[in-house]
Amino acid sequence: LLLLQVWVSCLWLGHSELVPSFPCSYCPFFFWNTPPNNALEPENPAWICQRYKNRYHFATLYDRDLRIPVYSAYVYQPRPGSRPTVPWMLEPQLINQTYSKDMETEEDLMEKYKVSKEQIKQSQAVDEDYSNLTDLDRGHLNPSGHQNNPNSRIATFTLTNIVPQNRELNQGTWRNYEEQIMAQYNQFCKLTFVIVGAVPGNTYTAGGRVNVPSHIWSAACCRTTTHMKTWAAIARNDENLVQILTVGELEARLGPLYKRGPVLLFHKNC
Ligand SMILES: *[C@@H]1O[C@H](CO)[C@@H](O)[C@H](O)[C@H]1NC(C)=O
Ligand SMILES: *[C@@H]1O[C@H](CO)[C@@H](O)[C@H](O)[C@H]1NC(C)=O
Repeated sequence: LLLLQVWVSCLWLGHSELVPSFPCSYCPFFFWNTPPNNALEPENPAWICQRYKNRYHFATLYDRDLRIPVYSAYVYQPRPGSRPTVPWMLEPQLINQTYSKDMETEEDLMEKYKVSKEQIKQSQAVDEDYSNLTDLDRGHLNPSGHQNNPNSRIATFTLTNIVPQNRELNQGTWRNYEEQIMAQYNQFCKLTFVIVGAVPGNTYTAGGRVNVPSHIWSAACCRTTTHMKTWAAIARNDENLVQILTVGELEARLGPLYKRGPVLLFHKNC
């Protein structure tokens, strides 16, 4: 019955990219179709089922006020290889819910809908917001290397999946976590659901437009042939140091950081 309700609630507004909330039947990127509890939910959220070339690739909870994602959720399907070189994309439906369900470049949006750069900037962070940063990178929450098909890799290059991330961290220990440590923990896993998030910080870039997170975190829930297995990581966004911990320990750390009560990241069966 619950699943049926979820299904119906998603169909309600049509198969739009901005969905009424998670979970959502055509956005199957959470273990047991269960998103984190609402202790992570910001005041002005947008639930995005990230769509590119007519297909859904991952889910993002976006904070419209801070102009950064709260988290991105995806199925871990790593594939080594070069990262795609593509222009950064934006979420059209943050501007107007009647716009394209597929992510698009700023240029295409301006051309297609005759919207100004200023109108686009009101709704979300744009490439320019990240252009003059010296010690901060465009940090992926869902990294392209954790996706195995070309379009899913490209789909991670949307700014609603990006936060200003300490450059040393992004290119240092966080990258090592993404590429090496994840792969080690994932041995024997058949199916792994991942949620990567950012804790809002006290500073902003781009003249106050885009929040700089205080922490970046990641949590994984995997099914092996015999049991469930979980692990997690967290890093302060001002130093190049990743701490590995259990999902329970991560949840206990996140509660006081988000200040909206106890955090639950996965369905209890995980
Ligand atoms: C969204 O776009 C539609 C169609 O172009 C337009 O009629 C409507 O006024 C727009 N809504 C907002 C909030 O701008
Ligand atoms: C970035 O720096 C260039 C050169 O200093 C400047 O012209 C431009 O306005 C800056 N852009 C932003 C978004 O601050």
